[in-house]
Amino acid sequence: MIPNRTVLTLDEFTIQSLRQFPHATGELSTLLRDIGLASKRVNVEVNKAGLVDILGDVGTVNVQGEEVKKLDEYANNQFVSVLQRGVSCAGIASEELDDFVAFDDEVSNQSKYVCLFDPLDGSGNIDVNVSIGTIFSIYRRISKLGTPVVKEDFLQKGRNQVAAGYIVYGSSTMLVYATKRSVNGFTLDPAIGEFCLSHPNIKCPESGKIYSVNHGNFFLYDYGVKKYIDTCQNKRKEQGGPYTQRYIGSMVSDVHRNLIKGGIFMYPGTTDKPKGKLRLLYECNPFAFIVEVAGGKATNGTMHILDIEPTELHERTPFFVGSNKMMEELEHCLATAKEK
Ligand code: AHG
Ligand code: MN
Ligand code: MN
Repeated sequence: MIPNRTVLTLDEFTIQSLRQFPHATGELSTLLRDIGLASKRVNVEVNKAGLVDILGDVGTVNVQGEEVKKLDEYANNQFVSVLQRGVSCAGIASEELDDFVAFDDEVSNQSKYVCLFDPLDGSGNIDVNVSIGTIFSIYRRISKLGTPVVKEDFLQKGRNQVAAGYIVYGSSTMLVYATKRSVNGFTLDPAIGEFCLSHPNIKCPESGKIYSVNHGNFFLYDYGVKKYIDTCQNKRKEQGGPYTQRYIGSMVSDVHRNLIKGGIFMYPGTTDKPKGKLRLLYECNPFAFIVEVAGGKATNGTMHILDIEPTELHERTPFFVGSNKMMEELEHCLATAKEK
């Protein structure tokens, strides 16, 4: 049988597309390959999570004040060690670590990129066999090559991202990443252990019918958000309604679905937590970048997520992301509510 050579692997695709840039050194392709490798290792553990004693809490509390599950720790260690051993990353910051890590060796100090990640997103869903994910974000360092990276390399606004992506450990495992030019999705072929290009040039539909939000917090949202949710619930047929509410509780899966099908995902601030729950650097910036490259939009309710100047590694922000037309309608609700 002649193998199907029209299917590109992640490495082949990345090398081919980055080759088009005359000044590309190949460092970004190596970094993406390393991320793919770490995620394959995590995928193996995620798949056998029900079989081995890897479930449950490690018993520690992460810097966000949340319990750390064993798989969170495993995933974090995989990403840190693969990137540290690789030659394309000068340092990392992770949702699971208090501070950034400068790899600070001769090779790493010569690397121009830093990587930020949420090693396991939606970890509350591990025990119940529901899709979870990993989110990553890549910046060019601003500190001098040849020196260890510093905090400012990580505290850049999302607009400066060179690439961002996520892995969904779902009914199949997918890696999706965006550069400034395009968003492409790769499905893991377990037979050969490679991510294969399955969703070239992903575009976020202009509008959709899905809205994703934690309804349990409804009475803690401000008036504009409540008004938008009410609008979604009252869409008439001729307005494209009725809308459908879908909320998995793993942002990676929720936003992935909405990116493909069209929709809006919201994690607004609440009266007790005005900045919401999601972290700007590890969760919101990468998704804002991916969705905007795909043609959608992401804001904190008042400004583009990608224009926020971060001041802390672990800062949180309200987050609204999705199809343009739905975002427009949301913005209208938020703006007119403020006028009251
Ligand atoms: P993490 O597992 O990395 O802490 O993130 C979970 C996040 C996100 O994936 C999800 O959308 C959100 O938490 C769900 O939060 P609520 O249960 O408060 O809705
Ligand atoms: Mn998360
Ligand atoms: Mn996490």
